[in-house]
Amino acid sequence: MTAVPKSRILGTGHYTPARVVSNFDLEKVVDTSDAWIAERTGIRRRHYAADDEVTSDMAAAAGRHALEAAGLNVADLDMIIVGTISGDTPMPACAVHVQQKLGADGIPAFDISAACAGFVYGLTIADQFIATGAASCVLIIGVELLSRLMNWQDRTTCVLFGDGAGAVVLGPAKGDGRGILSTRIFTDGSLAGALQIPGGGSSEPLTAEGLERKRNKVHMSGSEVFKVAIKNLTSASTLALKGAGLTSKELDWVVAHQANLRIITQVSDRLGFPLEKFILNIEEYGNTSSASIPIALDEGVRDGRIQPGQSVLLCALGAGISWGAAIVRM
Ligand code: ACO
Repeated sequence: MTAVPKSRILGTGHYTPARVVSNFDLEKVVDTSDAWIAERTGIRRRHYAADDEVTSDMAAAAGRHALEAAGLNVADLDMIIVGTISGDTPMPACAVHVQQKLGADGIPAFDISAACAGFVYGLTIADQFIATGAASCVLIIGVELLSRLMNWQDRTTCVLFGDGAGAVVLGPAKGDGRGILSTRIFTDGSLAGALQIPGGGSSEPLTAEGLERKRNKVHMSGSEVFKVAIKNLTSASTLALKGAGLTSKELDWVVAHQANLRIITQVSDRLGFPLEKFILNIEEYGNTSSASIPIALDEGVRDGRIQPGQSVLLCALGAGISWGAAIVRM
């Protein structure tokens, strides 16, 4: 039996910065090639924030876009959740700055630190708040400004990531079957070292030597994460489908985290769901971490591929390792 949703998506939006950096541009920065990046990842370009732009600027822009799509005002919101690992400052939360920029004074605003899974975690939390009646209109934003967290001497990571923001507004379901049918979230802390920013926290406060060694930048064991991503995205998606009371044959679209086209292709094979029905934008934006799902979702909605009433699987995995999946009837 299909699950009965408690919350539903009222509007989607996104913002990507204007500056486009191609693989050819990166050939001038590190020892890499357009051919390697495109073949191994599917990425051809990524967008980088302007020098005077900060994370909360992008998040607020995506949030306004989603509110506009929902036909709502900032005053209608009663909570802001931001998934990010690259906020304006280590403290306070990025959501605090977003609240100020939107003029949503007084409502709770907090960050979720689940890296690429941050948006799915945020959606899960917002769905629970709405299901219990504790909130009735929640803005969920996935945003990252990762270009400032790259080690430009490390070709294995610096070519992969991009900047951007995506958002959805969630409100109560109306009893017509549309809404969040299920969510599943997981973490495996034994893999914390596979993808991390090792310096700058209590375990390794930053020193001049740490800065020199780029300990405040993203470090990743790509092949380790690659294998886990295929396995865990497939298992979480299968569990979310089960929770929704659907099979993959009943899905209309999949919006997977855009980290690597080869990961997405393998997940498509394992789910038995055709790649043509995945909303893909990795070629244009690279890996925007927590922003990748809401950006792709909004693009699919705005260009008319995703239609009201269709069933969409969202799935993501990132540092933690944290991962999750959700089924949404749009
Ligand atoms: N250009 C040219 N050559 C490169 C580059 C590059 N940019 N990067 C690596 N290489 C070389 C390596 O040095 C290596 O050379 P060697 O064989 O001489 O040692 C060779 O290419 C193969 O390297 P691998 O790391 O084995 O390449 P792989 O096929 O695994 O691709 C990648 C690497 C793209 C990082 C892949 O492992 C991946 O996508 N991993 C998962 C990433 C992910 O999902 N992250 C989670 C989300 S991110 C978040 O949470 C913030």
